[in-house]
Amino acid sequence: NTPLLGDRYGRVGRDLRVSLTDKCNLRCQYCMPEEGIDPLPNDRLLTDDEIVRLIAIALDKLGIEEIRFTGGEPLLRKGLESIVGQAAAMTNHLGLKPELSLTTNALGLSRRAARLKEAGLDRVNISIDSVDRDIYAKLTRRDRLHDAVEGARVAQEVGLTPVKVNAVLMPGVNDDQASPLLAFCLDHGYQLRFIEYMPLGPRGSWKRGDMITAGDILEMLEKDFTLTPLGDTVRGTSPAELWRAESPHHPAGNVGIIASVTRPFCGNCDRTRLTADGKIRNCLFGDSEVDLMGLMRSGASDDEIADRWRGAMWIKKAGHGIDDEGFLQPDRPMSAIGG
Ligand code: GTP
Ligand code: 5AD
Ligand code: SF4
Repeated sequence: NTPLLGDRYGRVGRDLRVSLTDKCNLRCQYCMPEEGIDPLPNDRLLTDDEIVRLIAIALDKLGIEEIRFTGGEPLLRKGLESIVGQAAAMTNHLGLKPELSLTTNALGLSRRAARLKEAGLDRVNISIDSVDRDIYAKLTRRDRLHDAVEGARVAQEVGLTPVKVNAVLMPGVNDDQASPLLAFCLDHGYQLRFIEYMPLGPRGSWKRGDMITAGDILEMLEKDFTLTPLGDTVRGTSPAELWRAESPHHPAGNVGIIASVTRPFCGNCDRTRLTADGKIRNCLFGDSEVDLMGLMRSGASDDEIADRWRGAMWIKKAGHGIDDEGFLQPDRPMSAIGG
C-alpha cells in the first residue's frame, strides 16, 4: 500500500491524461493560432516505451484507475495502437484493466477504430463543433467535417461507446449551432457535451464578457428541447453536468455541459496530466510542471519516478483562478496540454 497521488486539499488523482503529441491536423480557433505552433522536436518527445513505463508506474504505484489519451491529435501518433494494447494488458490497484479512452478530432478514425477497439480501447470523445460544413471549416480552418462524422459513425459501429461529442461554442463563429448539434447527436445516439470556452487558446482570443456560458446554452436549447436536469448522481467523475433532452422530432437522450468557467469543478478534480515531452502538469491551468523524462533518462528507478510524480501533485492549486485578479493564461497552449 503505497501513498496515492494526494494533494494539500484532500483530492486524489485517479485519472491520468496522457498527451501523445502536440501536433494536430486541425487549427481550431479556440485552441491554436492559424499558423499552428512549432512542434516539439522528436528527441524531446517521450518514446512509446517510455510512455508505457510511466503508465505502468501510475497504475502500480500511484492509484491511477483510468487513462485517457489526448494530444494535440493522438491519432497522429503511429504507436497509438501499440501503446493502447500494452496499457490494456495492465491492471490497476483494484485488479481491473484500466478504463482506456481517447479524446480525438476523429480524422482518420474510421480506418483505425476497429484496431483500436481490438487493442483494448474502451471509448472515444470526439470534437465536432458544428454539423454545418462551412461553419466547421471556419472554426477548424480545415474542410474536414465529413471525415470527423465518418470517424464518429465507425467508432459507434465497432463499440467504442458511449461516443461522446465535445463542442465549444465561440461567439460569432458557431454560436447558433447548439440545437443543430444536439439534434444530430440525439439522432445518432451520441452524448453531446458543450464545453465553456476557456482561456487556453491563442492569447487575447478569450474575453470573459463575451464567452458563451452554460446559462446561455441552456436558454438556446430550451427553445427546441425539453430539458430535465439529471443531478450529480449520474455525473461520476466526469466534468459534465447532464440533462435529459426530449423533443417531438428526435429520439430522447442526454446532453451535458462542462461549465469549467462559470461552475468550476476544481474541488473534485481527480486528474493528473502527462505531457508529450514527459512533464507532469497537475492542472490544466497549472503554473508549474515537473519533468519525468529527464529523470527517467538519467536512470531513475520506478520508485524514484513515482516519488517525484507524487511531489508534483501535492502542490496542485485549489482551483483554476480564471476569475481572480491578475489571472495569467498558462504558457503552454491547449493543443500541447490535451484538454
Ligand atoms: P469523460 O467525461 O470521462 O468522458 O471525460 P472528459 O470529459 O474529462 O474528457 P474530455 O477529454 O472529452 O474533456 C472534455 C473537456 O473537459 C476538456 O476539453 C476540458 O475542457 C474539460 N476538462 C477535462 N479535464 C479538465 C480539468 O481537469 N479541468 C478543467 N477545468 N476542465 C477539464
Ligand atoms: N476551451 C475549452 N475547451 C477547449 N478545447 C480545446 N481548446 C479549448 C478551450 N480553449 C477542447 C476541445 C476538445 C478537448 C480536448 O478540448 O473541444 O474536445
Ligand atoms: Fe487540434 Fe484538438 Fe486543438 Fe482542435 S482542439 S486544433 S482538434 S488539438
